[in-house]
Amino acid sequence: MEPIKVVIHGALGRVGREMVNSLCRQNDIRLVGAVDRKASGDSLALPDNSVTIPFFTDLDRIITTCRPDVMVDFTVAKATMPAARIATKRGVHLVIGTTGLAASEIDEIDQLAKAHHVGAVIAPNFALGAVLMMHLAKIAAKYLDYAEIIELHHHLKLDAPSGTALSTARAMVQSRGKPFVHPGEPGQTQNSRREQVDGITIHSVRLPGLMAHQEILFGAPGQTLSIRHDTINRECYVPGVILAIKEVVKRQGLVYGLDILLNLQETK
Ligand SMILES: NC(=O)c1ccc[n+]([C@@H]2O[C@H](COP(=O)([O-])OP(=O)(O)OC[C@H]3O[C@@H](n4cnc5c(N)ncnc54)[C@H](O)[C@@H]3O)[C@@H](O)[C@H]2O)c1
Repeated sequence: MEPIKVVIHGALGRVGREMVNSLCRQNDIRLVGAVDRKASGDSLALPDNSVTIPFFTDLDRIITTCRPDVMVDFTVAKATMPAARIATKRGVHLVIGTTGLAASEIDEIDQLAKAHHVGAVIAPNFALGAVLMMHLAKIAAKYLDYAEIIELHHHLKLDAPSGTALSTARAMVQSRGKPFVHPGEPGQTQNSRREQVDGITIHSVRLPGLMAHQEILFGAPGQTLSIRHDTINRECYVPGVILAIKEVVKRQGLVYGLDILLNLQETK
């Protein structure tokens, strides 16, 4: 089988660089081009020193030059939408990791993909371990009545609680079909950094030295259960993106979330 031809949109970003570095080493994927609004010069040397690939600021020009099968996007939401319109119109499948897309924009990507007979995968988290953590938490949520989440991130993270912590809590409550039991907090200070989601308290830790970590603690009389995921570096996103690239070329329309590609929904 021919390798799947991929372009990276956002190739100079923190995740984009990791994608360039890792995808150029795959046998069944061929990195054929890269785009970044900060691109200078017309080519990018691949880190394995095998070749240089075309590298422009203009996605349309890259697609015309390199004829990719898939565009992988790790940019900013306002750049993702124009890119999705250009790529789908040219018959290019989409793998999107950029966060912050509005529900209406996600709908539009689905419509664009269907209209142009291509696939699109959007995953707010491409780290397989994080997706599994959420899945396991949904299972445990059915059996244990008390839960708290501790999410720990680097000090430059703007939001608290993290989007992953909020969606984990909401998914746990949905899986259970009712709120968790909150144990109450007699005499405790009210000004600590925490938020409640249907009985689940979320604690947010922000420290230099951390990357992205989350622990879900369940409590029941006489026992606790902890489910924890630690992101050590951005390599964690690579296997999920590779899975998405291989799956998206077989599909038409949108798949939202890696859990669907991992068939986790069937094993609920
Ligand atoms: N889904 C996931 O698993 C996952 C994981 C990590 C980060 N993210 C998300 O991915 C996105 C990128 O994260 P990052 O840490 O690499 O950010 P970053 O700021 O390091 O990189 C973004 C890159 O996009 C480029 N860019 C911005 N506008 C552009 C445009 N109009 N055209 C072309 N390039 C443009 C920038 O020049 C930059 O190089 C963010 O939305 C982040 O939240 C998702």
